Amino acid sequence: MNQNIFQQAPHDLLPVGNHDDRMRQEFSKSFRQYIQNGLLPGLTPVFEGRVTRTFQKEHGRPPADRHDIRKAMVTDPYFQTYASSTRIAQELLWSSVIDPLERDLGPLTEKAETLSTQSPAMLKTSEDFDVPRYVSAIDIHCMPGGYASSRSDKDIFAGALYDRGVYLYAMGYMGPDNDDMGRSVCNYIKRNLPEFAPETILDMGCTIGHSTLPFKEEFPDAEVTGIDVAGPCIRYAHARAAAKELNVGFLQENAEETSFADQSFDLIVSHILLHETSGKAMPRIFDECYRLLKPGGYMIHADLPPFGKMGPFMQFILDNETYYNNEPFWGAMREIDQIKLASDAGFAPGTIRFDTAPMAVMELSEAEQAALTDREFVAGEYAPGGGWEVLIAQKGKTE
Ligand SMILES: C[S@@+](CC[C@H](N)C(=O)[O-])C[C@H]1O[C@@H](n2cnc3c(N)ncnc32)[C@H](O)[C@@H]1O
Repeated sequence: MNQNIFQQAPHDLLPVGNHDDRMRQEFSKSFRQYIQNGLLPGLTPVFEGRVTRTFQKEHGRPPADRHDIRKAMVTDPYFQTYASSTRIAQELLWSSVIDPLERDLGPLTEKAETLSTQSPAMLKTSEDFDVPRYVSAIDIHCMPGGYASSRSDKDIFAGALYDRGVYLYAMGYMGPDNDDMGRSVCNYIKRNLPEFAPETILDMGCTIGHSTLPFKEEFPDAEVTGIDVAGPCIRYAHARAAAKELNVGFLQENAEETSFADQSFDLIVSHILLHETSGKAMPRIFDECYRLLKPGGYMIHADLPPFGKMGPFMQFILDNETYYNNEPFWGAMREIDQIKLASDAGFAPGTIRFDTAPMAVMELSEAEQAALTDREFVAGEYAPGGGWEVLIAQKGKTE
């Protein structure tokens, strides 16, 4: 592992560009860090002071929930500065990657094709694939073109853009390979299910396979497959895995209804997939997980904590993604009763629970921690509570 989590680990396909491009990218990352560490903390005193006083005067009561808080905060200049800076940082981040990517796209695409051709792992995409509207209709988290826009059956643009962009977005907190969620879920499984040795593993909504690859590293004898509805991401994922010499299959498939046979997998995981789907898709994905799992198999979805686990002010802060970052399902997903969805899909109620998978980057040895160069890493800065929220459920052994 690269010891400095605040610099992305290079690989053959990463579009970092030249010195000037990298400086723009560093600026967009630092701008986000400034917003997180410099502006965000100021929202609490502003809310608890003048904003609550004004609301109280107008309504005869303090703000009661995140909707009240939003109504009260949106007219405050401090919040407006915070929200507009966040949006500008997001747009800067993508544009700092798009410029070098457009310049280098030809050679990068050729390199990806060569890597994929040399790999024994399965690759399946189709230009006729029916991408669900909740993915195709908007540019989620303002990524220009979204995940699935595809100009040819060789296009990898969205995948390359996401690889560099999501690293900058996460400010390094997903680790140098953007794989902290996958690594954390693997650690969670090894610690909490020590007897469980999955032979077939499916990662749903894998994008560029950054969370998928740790499963191959941690369970090397398992057959590992990533699926996503976005063709350019799947092609990039396949080539990226090949560049890292990992035999992982990548297929363009819809997690709501895949082409795999019943009981194909021991373990099905997803990482921040569910909040980018829809209220109709989520139950279908849970049903599909149940169908695809072997008896005794596990489904683990790592995603956002439900709103019930935090107070109204924190809900309001996180819900800004819904309002200002093209994440229409972000807030609604946190109110859905996922335990019920899993139970309705057939998972035994006693096996379904939310838990926290500690962030893998937090579990580096002391020597590794000491080698971090930019600054100390603090639990909870990026993932509230210092871990990723996981929903875990087991299919009955006799079904
Ligand atoms: C936030 S990204 C997931 C990131 C990645 N799994 C990770 O570990 O960071 C969400 C991904 O889910 C994909 N997606 C959305 N709906 C899907 C569906 N029904 N089936 C498969 N993939 C889907 C999107 O195309 C996108 O690539």
